[in-house]
Amino acid sequence: MRTIRVIGIGAGNPEHMTVQAINALNRSDVLLIPTKGDEKAFLADARRDICDRFLTNPACRILDYAVPVRRADGSYEDGVNDWHRAIAAIYERTLLNAVGEDETLGLLVWGDPMLYDSTLRIIDHVRTAGRVAFDMEVIPGITSVQALCASHGIALNRIGLPVEITTGRRLAEGWPDSSRDALVMLDGVQAFRTVTDPEAEIWWGAYLGTPHEILLSGRLAEMAETISETRRTAREKHGWIMDTYLIRRPATEAEEGPA
Ligand SMILES: C[S@@+](CC[C@H](N)C(=O)[O-])C[C@H]1O[C@@H](n2cnc3c(N)ncnc32)[C@H](O)[C@@H]1O
Repeated sequence: MRTIRVIGIGAGNPEHMTVQAINALNRSDVLLIPTKGDEKAFLADARRDICDRFLTNPACRILDYAVPVRRADGSYEDGVNDWHRAIAAIYERTLLNAVGEDETLGLLVWGDPMLYDSTLRIIDHVRTAGRVAFDMEVIPGITSVQALCASHGIALNRIGLPVEITTGRRLAEGWPDSSRDALVMLDGVQAFRTVTDPEAEIWWGAYLGTPHEILLSGRLAEMAETISETRRTAREKHGWIMDTYLIRRPATEAEEGPA
């Protein structure tokens, strides 16, 4: 039986690779690496660096594929579904044409596959299509959330309180009901600018774990402009940006509970 091994590779620092991930890499017969555009070129290079550094199995074959372009017309959901199906077709072809019956296909996933990543859903499409049988293994990785908290030296949650992990797009629609702490990813709209609570604090990080890492933190009202400007300049300089941040609003007395 073929196997797909989904390997979390960490969020930017090759040293995020766990021993389990390194072993999983070396037990793979084929590695499939996506390439596309400026941002994806960096991500593809990061994956190649990881292979150069940790891959000691000379028999392992590395294959590139061009990530299909996501359609911008029609609904967002339809666009994403079609895009996932197109990538699923690439996984399927690779399994059938480049991976032997008892071999393993390794997919190197940024951060951890369970966090804002579609690889597991795409693999479901391959399984549902039913044209090739395979087992699947998932190896966890260090997420950008962990990288952000580690670089700032902070805990993600306050004692006994929840944290909402959300997207910039959702935050821009309004502060979440479930929590006074929001960890925001995939923010193309600078949604932190929509938070008006004068007591809110922010811990922001870009290019976490990479040599370009930038960290900023403080009272949101005082930092928003600096973060926007830093973001703009860095994006211009590197041609792409990935950033993540935690915003914390003062907890209500009821939430804080007894000291
Ligand atoms: C498609 S999600 C992938 C998340 C990934 N699976 C993880 O575990 O972190 C991409 C988003 O993750 C965040 N991200 C990933 N790597 C990052 C990094 N090195 N620095 C800052 N943010 C990062 C950004 O919010 C980016 O928009």
